[in-house]
Amino acid sequence: MNFKFFRISVLILLVNFIFTSNSFAFKPRKEEWKPKDTTNFVSKFYKENENCLKCHGQKVYEYSNESQGTTIRHNMNIERVINRDIFYQSNHKSFKCTDCHSNEYSKFPHSGELRMEAIYNCIDCHGNDEKYAKFHFEEIEAEYQQSTHFKLEKDGFTCWKCHNPHTYQISIRNSENLKNTIAYDNSICLNCHSNFDKFQLLSDRDEINLIQKHEWLPNQTAHFQNVRCIECHTKTNDRILVAHMIMPKDSAVRKCNECHSQSSILMASLYKFKSKEQRKDGFFNGVMLNESYVIGANRNEYLNNFSLLIFALIIGVIGVHTFFRMIKVKSKSDES
Ligand code: HEC
Ligand code: HEC
Ligand code: HEC
Ligand code: HEC
Ligand code: HEC
Ligand code: HEC
Ligand code: HEC
Repeated sequence: MNFKFFRISVLILLVNFIFTSNSFAFKPRKEEWKPKDTTNFVSKFYKENENCLKCHGQKVYEYSNESQGTTIRHNMNIERVINRDIFYQSNHKSFKCTDCHSNEYSKFPHSGELRMEAIYNCIDCHGNDEKYAKFHFEEIEAEYQQSTHFKLEKDGFTCWKCHNPHTYQISIRNSENLKNTIAYDNSICLNCHSNFDKFQLLSDRDEINLIQKHEWLPNQTAHFQNVRCIECHTKTNDRILVAHMIMPKDSAVRKCNECHSQSSILMASLYKFKSKEQRKDGFFNGVMLNESYVIGANRNEYLNNFSLLIFALIIGVIGVHTFFRMIKVKSKSDES
């Protein structure tokens, strides 16, 4: 590898690391927080939200013990830390914390009863709303109710378990980088399926070893970087962009040719949002080629015809060759 390129990559990695570790800095923020330039968005409520984020925005919070006149520092449980930058890029970035949570949370320590508070579900706000008609929330809700996870509702499974209220962002709909979208969508599933701490909150089952369960799939890494879990685990539905009916494991896609063929299921799932901008240079399922080469799904019809032609020519040549050989043999035997 080019040495200069190597040094630049290391630098980029370092800068990235500093950036990410800084957003989870171990110090309470004394100075007023200002939104980063990366988003042009400035919340109307960012001052108000600081009343919560001064404690929930990083791994350390402090409060004063007035009777003793001391300031006490504690660690905030990582599950209760909300990253400001990610929150202000999420779909619900224009909300204030207390739009979804009770105003009572402004008091600390929080009252125990608040834990029992009911929180709105997606459909309560988005159901039957013209503005969000393109997402078909009602259809998604109906699919979810048939998915394998729905039976865990009594244990606390909801749409929020996959759509983290403080980070969720639509991705595939306006995806500019399909690999990032795949990674994002898969991280939603891996949040529980590669984190037993979260998994066991919902189920008594033993830990499911994903790598082992998918051992039948060659080059897992390449596959998991190029397809989403939902490609194999949901039933596609023409009416919505992202299928939500997670099927029992026995119905998962296992046959290679469901993807590696001209009628690849990927055209109705992963590549659905792009299938309008088909490439027209003769490749079957051409849009895929912008992202990856899926053996069997991306054959080129010109190449196909060309290889037929070559095949015919070869047969022809062999035929002619045999014909002259036969004549020669015949004339030889006639001579003798
Ligand atoms: C002084 C620090 C502090 C402030 C300010 C604060 N919180 Fe908290 N919050 C905590 C701590 C510590 C916990 C975990 C322990 C607990 O539940 O009391 C917590 C827990 C929570 C929980 C989880 C409760 C549960 O167990 O299910 C929610 C939700 C929450 N806070 C919301 C808010 C909101 C919204 C605000 C702003 C209106 C806010 N908090 C302000 C410190 C704070
Ligand atoms: C769009 C609604 C919404 C907004 C806005 C929102 N929350 Fe939440 N929050 C929720 C929901 C829903 C849960 C429960 C998540 C679950 O059940 O997994 C939650 C859970 C929490 C928890 C408990 C830990 C956790 O993640 O389960 C804390 C702490 C919290 N919110 C703080 C905040 C703070 C601080 C803000 C403002 C920066 C905020 N929330 C904004 C909906 C919201
Ligand atoms: C308390 C009401 C409320 C709840 C609950 C809620 N939303 Fe929203 N949602 C909104 C509002 C209001 C907006 C518009 C925000 C804006 O324009 O800044 C929005 C925006 C969105 C968007 C972006 C729409 C676009 O055109 O860019 C999506 C996607 C979305 N919500 C999905 C969800 C999902 C999924 C859930 C449940 C996990 C959910 N919402 C729960 C009120 C809600
Ligand atoms: C098992 C995980 C899971 C559950 C549960 C889940 N979703 Fe989703 N949802 C996803 C994934 C993954 C995406 C794809 C995100 C992306 O790339 O935009 C998605 C996307 C969406 C979108 C955006 C689709 C679009 O057209 O752009 C909406 C809206 C949505 N979900 C609503 C819901 C609602 C409502 C519920 C509950 C009834 C729900 N989801 C439950 C995983 C889930
Ligand atoms: C190429 C298709 C494919 C992809 C991609 C895929 N799976 Fe699977 N998955 C399967 C099949 C087939 C099975 C059934 C295996 C069996 O029965 O032994 C399965 C099994 C499972 C099981 C059930 C294991 C059990 O025994 O209960 C879980 C959970 C699971 N997958 C989650 C995921 C997650 C999370 C992802 C994304 C990171 C993913 N899968 C990606 C095809 C796939
Ligand atoms: C909030 C945690 C959570 C998330 C997020 C989650 N799952 Fe699950 N999933 C579970 C639990 C818990 C089970 C075990 C259910 C049971 O007890 O049988 C499960 C079971 C499954 C199964 C096995 C069903 C069977 O037949 O045994 C599949 C497949 C699966 N999940 C796929 C997915 C996919 C794909 C995603 C992402 C789109 C996802 N899960 C997201 C918690 C989660
Ligand atoms: C859910 C769709 C899907 C299924 C099912 C699937 N594949 Fe793939 N496969 C892909 C995609 C997409 C790629 C493209 C990877 C890339 O661009 O590098 C791929 C790539 C490959 C590659 C090349 C990997 C590499 O090293 O670069 C092989 C070999 C392969 N698949 C074999 C199989 C076999 C064998 C099966 C059945 C056991 C199978 N695939 C099932 C979607 C699938």
